[in-house]
Amino acid sequence: MVAETLKELYEETLAAAPTSFEAGELFTHVTGVKPLDADARPATPEQKEKLETLLKRRGAGYPLQYLLGEWEFYSLPFKVGPGVLIPRQDTETLVDAALNVLKTMDVPTPQVLDLCSGTGCVAIAIKHNFPAAQVTAQEFSPEAYNYLLQNIELNQVDVTPHLSDLREYTHPVPVDMVVSNPPYIPHYQFRDLQVEVGYEPLAALDGGEDGLYYFRAIARRFKEQLRPGGALLMEIGMGQEEDVATILRENHFEDIVFHKDLNGIIRVVESRNSAKRA
Ligand SMILES: C[S@@+](CC[C@H](N)C(=O)[O-])C[C@H]1O[C@@H](n2cnc3c(N)ncnc32)[C@H](O)[C@@H]1O
Repeated sequence: MVAETLKELYEETLAAAPTSFEAGELFTHVTGVKPLDADARPATPEQKEKLETLLKRRGAGYPLQYLLGEWEFYSLPFKVGPGVLIPRQDTETLVDAALNVLKTMDVPTPQVLDLCSGTGCVAIAIKHNFPAAQVTAQEFSPEAYNYLLQNIELNQVDVTPHLSDLREYTHPVPVDMVVSNPPYIPHYQFRDLQVEVGYEPLAALDGGEDGLYYFRAIARRFKEQLRPGGALLMEIGMGQEEDVATILRENHFEDIVFHKDLNGIIRVVESRNSAKRA
């Protein structure tokens, strides 16, 4: 980069970044200066070199969020990087629905279990907004678990982390609510994913041949761990609602409700554990 001043450096960044939003984020990340405050102060060789490297990687499709190292979810900060899924705005629908159920559940300190926790964004947002809940965040990838630990610390919340495979996990006491954003992309959709998604861990995305593998595994295994009347809320992919509702009914869940995201797409399936055993 040839810029002499911060203002020129921002202009060069703007020309090279995919959008003005990204230019602003990267520029502020490197210089600590907001685009509007970029003035005639000199740009240092380190700033130029760092921005050039980041813009090059971004140009190759590397996710902006990994370059920044931190991303916001439900107005809270989360550390992100290779090995963990970047929290998506769509997933805020899962947190909204879970908080609404918790508010109407007549349990003073409900046991909430977040399966497939990744960064911990769902578990931490629930605990932050409903402090009486006893929240456990369960995750099986050691890389993702490391981010989960950092994010519990960063957000100063009392969430219990657990490194395990959900297919073998047993909660020590009956659960009032299970929430999960499991991997749900079917194999046939893999070739259509954005280039950025290719940098995210496959284990966070791979929902098996038909995308429904984890919905079946969760419904079967956690039927017995949820108390009767307890709630199961899962994020789903576009168009999966009828298949997931069928899986839930087959496992004796009832009172199925669909929740739409901000784009009007059904994103969350809520259900209750019936007293009927499987
Ligand atoms: C779609 S990501 C969701 C992450 C986070 N909850 C979010 O909403 O951003 C799914 C997560 O499930 C984890 N995972 C995949 N298979 C698992 C298993 N068998 N047991 C527990 N976690 C698993 C992945 O490592 C990944 O972190």
